[in-house]
Amino acid sequence: MDLKKLMKRFFVAIVSLMLLGCNGDEVLANTPSGRTLVVYYSFTGNVRAIVNSLGGKIEADVVEIEPAEEGLDYAANNYAIGSSLIEAIRNNPNDADSYPAIKDVAADVESYDNIIVATPLWWSQMAAPMQTFLFHNGAKMKDKNIALIVSSASSPIAATVADAKRLIPEGNFLEPNLWIKSSQVGNASALIDQWLNQIQFPTIMNNDTLSVRAGGYTFTAILEDNAAAQAFNEMCPLTVNMSELNGNEKYYYLDQSLPTQPSNPGTINAGDIMLYGSSCIVVFYKTFSTSYSYTKIGHITDVTNLAKALGTGSVSVTFGGDDTAISNIKADEVKDGNYYSIDGRVVSDPKHGIFIHNGKKILIK
Ligand SMILES: Cc1cc2nc3c(=O)[nH]c(=O)nc-3n(C[C@H](O)[C@H](O)[C@H](O)COP(=O)(O)O)c2cc1C
Repeated sequence: MDLKKLMKRFFVAIVSLMLLGCNGDEVLANTPSGRTLVVYYSFTGNVRAIVNSLGGKIEADVVEIEPAEEGLDYAANNYAIGSSLIEAIRNNPNDADSYPAIKDVAADVESYDNIIVATPLWWSQMAAPMQTFLFHNGAKMKDKNIALIVSSASSPIAATVADAKRLIPEGNFLEPNLWIKSSQVGNASALIDQWLNQIQFPTIMNNDTLSVRAGGYTFTAILEDNAAAQAFNEMCPLTVNMSELNGNEKYYYLDQSLPTQPSNPGTINAGDIMLYGSSCIVVFYKTFSTSYSYTKIGHITDVTNLAKALGTGSVSVTFGGDDTAISNIKADEVKDGNYYSIDGRVVSDPKHGIFIHNGKKILIK
């Protein structure tokens, strides 16, 4: 690894250490923030696989619900036990005795802001052990953000959603719910990404970022996970004089070729940083359709003022150089759970873009 990359990793590690262990007390409008608990039950492993995938994408504590009685085969004898458990709850939903016993759960529900409930569907209802957990803990989830993930073989999930709303009567349910059929578990990662985006849930970002400076403005780009982006990142910091083209882009021919993997994106979005051919770096500041192919290098997350910064003629653009003010955050100013912009400001209402939260880079789309 070259010195620049090493220093960058060191910088990220220092920032992470500075921000770890802080405490979040603000309640944010619209965007779920604060502490997250994922609570799940899984009999045949589908929900467990879904939760494993989810766990790599968000900051959350994860707990599993386990029936007190071990070794029961809920699917045996044409689902006899499973169906009688569900029937008992259906017949007497307000009686604690209708719910099968579960082992103690090591989580203080009240200390979380967001609770993601992940459960299988049994006979259209929520699986019985998860219903037990919510019967005893649902009232403690008043005003918390509740997100629901349900897995079934094929049955629609409306009755399971109704169970969640009955058991967590005052929860603030995030819509939509995520329904993953057992046949879709192999594709869970993509379905979860899409869902987290829909409910605007902050996700951990593993991609590298690159600063882009022009006309007195600094922007942040998320780099693609490909060889071209990596090679370009290694050339930075780089200051070049980019030429104007067609009122929508600035371009510059590098004096070396980068690896290519061209495809036609259909639409170019303002903020896209593309490689045309093997050596022409292009920064787009307008959105339009294209018939050309490019290798994508990255995308500027917040394009406010981008067109202004790039102007109408040729312009000097600096890619990279970690001069962000985040390194100036003093340890005593850091409060656990705060969201920091890349330039080190506390953001009380993080909406779109990249933030540092509890030492991790978080992307809110
Ligand atoms: C007792 C029981 C009842 C079930 N009832 C239904 C059902 O009514 N409709 C359906 O589509 N799937 C039903 N299933 C299948 C599960 O919902 C599905 O396989 C789910 O992905 C299992 O998640 P898990 O592997 O995490 O336990 C049932 C499974 C069990 C064990």
